[in-house]
Amino acid sequence: MTWQKRMAALVAQRLGIELRPSRTEDSLDRFVRRRARALRLPDGDAYVSLLGGQTTQSREFTQFIAAVTIGYTFFFRNIRQLKVIAEVLSERADAGHGPGRIWCACCSTGEEAYSLAMLLAEQGVDTEILATDIDAVALGAARTGEYADWSLRSVPKALREEYFERVGDRHRVRRHIRERVSFRRQNVVYDPPPRSLACVPWDVIVCRNAFIYYTGDALRAATQHIMKGLAPDGLVFLGSSESMRAPMVPVGIKGQVAYRPGTRFIPRQKTPTPMPTPRRTSRFRRTPPVSVAPSPRYDHALDLLRSGDEKLARAVLEKVVQSNPDRVPAWVTLGNVSLRVHAFEQALHAYGEAQKRDPLLPEVHYFLGMTYRKLGDLQRAAHSLRSTLFLDPGFWPASFLLAGVHGRLGNWEKRRAQLLHTLEAAQTPGSEPLFRSRGHEPLHPIGSDAVAAACRQLLRERRVA
Ligand SMILES: C[S@@+](CC[C@H](N)C(=O)[O-])C[C@H]1O[C@@H](n2cnc3c(N)ncnc32)[C@H](O)[C@@H]1O
Repeated sequence: MTWQKRMAALVAQRLGIELRPSRTEDSLDRFVRRRARALRLPDGDAYVSLLGGQTTQSREFTQFIAAVTIGYTFFFRNIRQLKVIAEVLSERADAGHGPGRIWCACCSTGEEAYSLAMLLAEQGVDTEILATDIDAVALGAARTGEYADWSLRSVPKALREEYFERVGDRHRVRRHIRERVSFRRQNVVYDPPPRSLACVPWDVIVCRNAFIYYTGDALRAATQHIMKGLAPDGLVFLGSSESMRAPMVPVGIKGQVAYRPGTRFIPRQKTPTPMPTPRRTSRFRRTPPVSVAPSPRYDHALDLLRSGDEKLARAVLEKVVQSNPDRVPAWVTLGNVSLRVHAFEQALHAYGEAQKRDPLLPEVHYFLGMTYRKLGDLQRAAHSLRSTLFLDPGFWPASFLLAGVHGRLGNWEKRRAQLLHTLEAAQTPGSEPLFRSRGHEPLHPIGSDAVAAACRQLLRERRVA
């Protein structure tokens, strides 16, 4: 098989995107050859093999995703549809529905989400907007909120003056609009739907101009995730050439087509298992894929955790893993709950069960490292944290913890090197690690900005200079 075919298969497996044959002959082809040269690899084949051994979170895969995805977008693209969305949410707010919630999936560099924020600000509607994309580079640009003239070509003059400020030859979205939108990395084919701040489903899901690139299986999986994240009376808006299949049904809303769950709506169905991503199969032999089918009982345990009832949550989690021992996220969550109450033996047991079933999940090694560190077993902690970074070099929480372990072992040079690595990883756009399990939030309370600041401070200290 040619490397172009292997690359197309890898892209379909990991991203759900169907590469048109013409794409592998153009800029993508050039990108692969350029990266192979930069990495001193003999050819495109070696580059595809290298990618195949990495997670989609790794730095190289992140660059590759940016090259593969087509992020074409601009402000107020299909403005009529965006205005209808703003009107629907405004009417619901007037009817006492409370603050609206929009999940803007496949948002690229953010123009669509900011356009919605501007239209909603015009209507005086208080709305939570979460915008997601698989492309971390695009998300980095979205967070900056600065755009060239070209992106603003359809912005009405009045809105341009109201919502943008000039920064050199670019236009920056004003702060009060930027603050209305948050961005997160999410693969709409493989990851569960993101949660809103209040952990309630989304009133409106916008997913425009991404489905056109999907394979059949990917489309089905993305549809499931979108349905699962949608409120029972919620609406989905797609790009003008896209459609959704049953059980979603089209409805006419103010001259626009939207989709809502039909009467035969079955919210919980099996989603595909992400592909394994070993970097070196000799070290981590792949076990059969883990079960990722939705589980109402696991969801119930998460609700209990959120409401603070840890004891009952733990009892429910124990039942979940008893009835389905292959449910890896439940094992990890059980480990997290145990670790939080310093039940170290139970935590080690639960993480061990998770690791047996999926030795390639970076977060399991991370939590094992955390447990060993708390137990004072610094050698084992360092080993587990190194394994995390071996699987995903961008997993900065593990890198930060490892720097601390080196410090406690008196390895100042290693500590300094690890702090530098952490700083670089934490500053990479879209670097928040994705956790497949839940219940980790209190164990992992600080974000990349705070960690980067801590690294800078520690690197200034004389001991590590
Ligand atoms: C053409 S842009 C659309 C941007 C915007 N929605 C619009 O209509 O103007 C498609 C975006 O979908 C994103 N995308 C493709 N596959 C994805 C996936 N599996 N999960 C999340 N985002 C994905 C790409 O990274 C790209 O930014």
